[in-house]
Amino acid sequence: MAKIKPSKGAPYARILGVGGYRPTRVVPNEVILETIDSSDEWIRSRSGIQTRHWANDEETVAAMSIEASGKAIADAGISAEQIGGVIVSTVSHFKQTPAVATEIADTLGTNKAAAFDISAGCAGFGYGLTLAKGMIVEGSAEYVLVIGVERLSDLTDLEDRATAFLFGDGAGAVVVGPAQEPAIGPTVWGSEGDKSETIKQTVPWTDYRSGEVAKFPAITQEGQAVFRWAVFEMAKVAKEALDAAGITADDLDVFIPHQANERIIDSMVKTLKLPESVTVARDVRTTGNTSAASIPLAMERLLATGEAKSGDTALVIGFGAGLVYAATVVTLP
Ligand SMILES: CC(C)(COP(=O)(O)OP(=O)(O)OC[C@H]1O[C@@H](n2cnc3c(N)ncnc32)[C@H](O)[C@@H]1OP(=O)(O)O)[C@@H](O)C(=O)NCCC(=O)NCCS
Repeated sequence: MAKIKPSKGAPYARILGVGGYRPTRVVPNEVILETIDSSDEWIRSRSGIQTRHWANDEETVAAMSIEASGKAIADAGISAEQIGGVIVSTVSHFKQTPAVATEIADTLGTNKAAAFDISAGCAGFGYGLTLAKGMIVEGSAEYVLVIGVERLSDLTDLEDRATAFLFGDGAGAVVVGPAQEPAIGPTVWGSEGDKSETIKQTVPWTDYRSGEVAKFPAITQEGQAVFRWAVFEMAKVAKEALDAAGITADDLDVFIPHQANERIIDSMVKTLKLPESVTVARDVRTTGNTSAASIPLAMERLLATGEAKSGDTALVIGFGAGLVYAATVVTLP
C-alpha cells in the first residue's frame, strides 16, 4: 500500500469579511394585503415584519451573490484570486445544473476555485460555514467564500395567508480564512426528516410541467408546527452550541438567529436567558425571511450600524426546511 501524504491546513478558521445585497425594491405590508385577507397590524404583531425586499429581473441569484461577495472580499482585505472555494447555499436558483457557484466564482475572478451549491434551507449558511471551516483546516483551500442567497419571491404563493408576508430576497456572503486561534466553534447540526412535510415545495416541478397542477410550485408550511419546533427544539440546539464552544450566555456579545419570525427570536432570547447586554439581530423587520441569506445579511447589518463590532462573540443558529438546523459560536469579522 502506497503511503499517502497528509494534507496540511491552517490550525483554525475564522470569518474575515462579510457583505450583503438587498434588492432595490422595498415591499411594505400594504402590497401583501392586495392578495391576502390580513392587516398590517396582524403581520407586524405575528411576525415582526414591516417590509421586505423583492428582486427584479436583473437581481438574479448570481447577480445578488456577486454584489454581496464583492463586499465580503473587500471587507476581508484579500483578492478574489486567493479564494479556493465558493459554496452557495440556496433553494431558489431555478437552473438545476450547473451549480450557480461556478458562474459566481468565475465572474468574481477566482483562480478556478472549487465551486458548488448546497441545499439546506434556512440552515444553509451554517452548513456552508461548517464545510468552509473543514476545507481550510483540512488544507484544500486557504480562503472560502460562503454565500447564502435566495429569490424566495419566485417561490411564494401570494394568495397563501400563511406565507405570503414572510419571505424576502437577498444575498449575504462571508469570506472564511485561516486563523491562529479558534474563531468558529464546533457546529451543532442535524436533520429531522420525519418532519419534512412541515416546510416544503407544494408539488414537484414535474407535476406542474405535466399540467397536473395549474399553480406554479411555491413554499408552503405548517406555521404552528414550525413555530413550536423552532421555539422548543432550537433553543436547546443553541444552548448545545454554547456548551460545545465552552462558553455561557454571559460570554456572548451578539445573537444572530435565523430571521424567520421576531416572536421566535424573542422566545429564544428568553429561553436562553440572554443578558440584556447581548445584541440581538432583528433584521427580519425590514428584510423578511430570506432563508439561507438571513444570517449573513443580519450579521452585515449589525456590523454596518455599529450595533456589533469586529471581534465580538456571536451565536448563530439557522433552522428550516428539512427540517434541518445548524448552530455555532463565531468571532465576528
Ligand atoms: C405563520 C405564523 C406567523 C402564523 O401565526 P400563528 O399565530 O401560528 O397563526 P395561526 O395559523 O395559528 O392562525 C391564528 C389565527 O390567525 C388567522 N390568520 C392566519 N394567517 C393570517 C394572516 N396572514 N392574516 C391574518 N390572520 C391570519 C387564522 O385564521 C387564525 O384565526 P382564528 O384564530 O380565527 O382561527 C406563525 O405560525 C409562524 O411564524 N410560524 C413559523 C414560520 C416560520 O418562521 N417559518 C420559517 C421557518 S424557517
